[in-house]
Amino acid sequence: MSGPFSDLEDTIFSDKSVLTEDYQPEEILERDEEIEEYRYALQDVLFGRAPENIMLYGKAGLGKTAVTTYMMNALKAEAEERKQADDLYIHELNCNGKTLFVVVRQLVNSLLPENASEFPKRGLGTSDAFEELYRQLDRVGGTHFLVFDEIDHLDDVNTLLYELPRASSNGHITNSQVGVIGISNNYTFRQSLSSKVKDTLMENEISFSPYNADELQTILRDRADRAFVDGACDRSAIAMAAAISAKDMGNARQAIDLLRVGAKVAEKNEDRKVEDDHIESAKELVQRGRLSNRVRDQTDHAQYILETIAHLEQQKKTPARSKDIKAYYEKVTTEWGSEPLTTLKSIQDHLSDLHMLGFLQRSEQNDGERGGRRYEYELDLDPQIIIDARKEVESE
Ligand SMILES: Nc1ncnc2c1ncn2[C@@H]1O[C@H](COP(=O)(O)OP(=O)(O)OP(=O)(O)O)[C@@H](O)[C@H]1O
Ligand SMILES: [Mg+2]
Repeated sequence: MSGPFSDLEDTIFSDKSVLTEDYQPEEILERDEEIEEYRYALQDVLFGRAPENIMLYGKAGLGKTAVTTYMMNALKAEAEERKQADDLYIHELNCNGKTLFVVVRQLVNSLLPENASEFPKRGLGTSDAFEELYRQLDRVGGTHFLVFDEIDHLDDVNTLLYELPRASSNGHITNSQVGVIGISNNYTFRQSLSSKVKDTLMENEISFSPYNADELQTILRDRADRAFVDGACDRSAIAMAAAISAKDMGNARQAIDLLRVGAKVAEKNEDRKVEDDHIESAKELVQRGRLSNRVRDQTDHAQYILETIAHLEQQKKTPARSKDIKAYYEKVTTEWGSEPLTTLKSIQDHLSDLHMLGFLQRSEQNDGERGGRRYEYELDLDPQIIIDARKEVESE
C-alpha cells in the first residue's frame, strides 16, 4: 500500500541525536590544556584529601559544560577503582533562572533518602535549607562535588560561594567534604564577587579559549562520522561550518548547529549529501533563529514598536520620525488588544533602547522649521524576521 510515508528513506543520518544539544560526547577533542588543568585541580579526592574549589570561565559554546561532565564521569569511575579514595558524589546543577533557595533546596532533595518527603517549597528560608543540606551531607558522608553551571545567573551568589567552601572549617559538616565547581560565561562576574569569596575561589581558575577553524573541524568531523551514513557529508561542508563559527566566536555549539541545520536542509531537498550550499542556507536559518529569540526577549511595548517599524519599512516609509512611529504603533498595539503607551517621551525612550541594542539604525536630521535636531529610525535587520517572530509570540 502506498501512503504519504511509504517512499521515505533515511538517507543521510545514521544517528541524528549526535547533533543535538543533549548529546554528551564520549570523547573531548582539542581541549587538552583545559583537561590537564582540570585533572590537576581535581586529583586530591583520589588520594583521600579534601577537594579544592574550581572556577571555570569562557564564552558560550567552548565546551565548559561538556568538559565538566566528562571530567566528573571520569573522576567518579577512577575513584571507584581506588581504595584510598573517599566515596565520591557528583551533583551537577544549572543555576539559570533560579534563586539561591531553589538551588539549595534542589541539592537537599537530591541527597534525601529515597522515600523521605521533599524539602518544602514554602514556609522555610534559605538558612533552613542550608542547615538541612549540611545535615544530609553528613548523613550520606563522603566527598561531594557541587557543580553550579551558569552560576552568574544566580541571584545571591556571594552567599553560596561564601558558605559552601567554608562548611568544614566553620564546623557545619564533620562527616563529609564539599568541593565547589562554578561555571560562568561572563568574565565580569568575577568582579561582582566579594573579596572574601574571591580569595577562596582563586585557587583554581580555568579559562576556556575560543576554538580556531582547525579545532572546530576536528570536532565536527568526529560528530559527522557518528551522525551521518558513510559519504553523506562533504568534507568541504564541514570546513565551511568550522570557518563560519571560527570567524564569529569560535563557538562549537554554533558549528554543530550549522551542521545539523545544513543536514536538515539537504534532507528536505531530498539531496543525499550535505554540501556547501546547505551550510550556506543553514547560516541564514541559524542567524534568523537567533534574531527571532532576541525579539522575543524584548518587553511587549518594545516588540510593538519593532513590529511598527517593520511594517513601515515594508511600506517604504522609513527612516521614520518618532511622531510617525507613535501614530502607527498605537494602531498595532490596539490591534493586538493592548493599551498603547501615551507619551511621545516613552516611545522615544524605547526607540533609543532599541537603537542601543542594535535593532535600529538612527540618523540625525535638521528640523528645518524649528531649527532643532531630531532623530529618524529604521530597522537594522530584515523586517520579515520581526513580523514572523511577532506572529509566533502572539500565537503561543
Ligand atoms: N572539545 C569538544 N569536543 C566535542 N564536543 C564539544 C567540544 N566542545 C564543545 N563541544 C560541544 O559543543 C556544544 C557546546 O559546548 P558546551 O555546552 O560544553 O559549551 P559551554 O562552554 O558550556 O557553553 P555555555 O557557556 O553557552 O553554556 C555541546 O554540544 C558540546 O557537546
Ligand atoms: Mg554550558
